[in-house]
Amino acid sequence: MSSLPVEIESSQLIKVEIMGKVYEVPTGLTMLQAMWYTGYELLRGAGCLGGICGACSTTYRTKGDIKIKTCLACQTEVEDGMSFSLVYTYYPNRKIPYDFDAVEDPKQDLFRFYPEASLCRNCDACTEACPKGIDVRTGVWEAALGKFKDCSEKFLPCVMCSLCVPVCIADIAPNQIGLYVRRSQGIFFNERPPQLLTRIEEIKEGKFESEWESLLAPVQDV
Ligand code: FES
Repeated sequence: MSSLPVEIESSQLIKVEIMGKVYEVPTGLTMLQAMWYTGYELLRGAGCLGGICGACSTTYRTKGDIKIKTCLACQTEVEDGMSFSLVYTYYPNRKIPYDFDAVEDPKQDLFRFYPEASLCRNCDACTEACPKGIDVRTGVWEAALGKFKDCSEKFLPCVMCSLCVPVCIADIAPNQIGLYVRRSQGIFFNERPPQLLTRIEEIKEGKFESEWESLLAPVQDV
């Protein structure tokens, strides 16, 4: 799937509804490309175009289906009769300024930082809302049960789009919990490759200072 809308190869047009207005667009475009094709100027909602940054979270419905689904607009092709809207918003997540240097027991401290983590009511709305197909509900339970390895692996594809946040009836921010667990797993539980530890020591001892200075030096005109 091409990431830029410039080359329009298809001559076949389909009808899509974008933010409540119907347009004709060529087949084969992603939702973002279709928006550009119709002249939308995206000041928010477009970032990496590679399914990584989570900026283009979108709700959509396909022809004949009553279900409203979620996706990343840079990764999803338009279909005839589809209706979609970019979510365009930043959810005011509660960001906890935890400091891992002061964390002694990350599994217990999860409840200090996120006391709501154990309040999941199993509605599964977070899993339904996730455009990356993560089993978010199970991940939140794994966090609460101290299964940090399973949880961190589950949340690996999370792009922090936050679509799981407003649907949670227990006011959990599952993506924030997943991020905390992934960080904890990396800092406290994963084994570190010995070569990495050696290299960190070498950096601390200043072994690469001259390379670092040459990297930072202004580029000379030739
Ligand atoms: S623009 Fe980054 S995920 Fe779509």
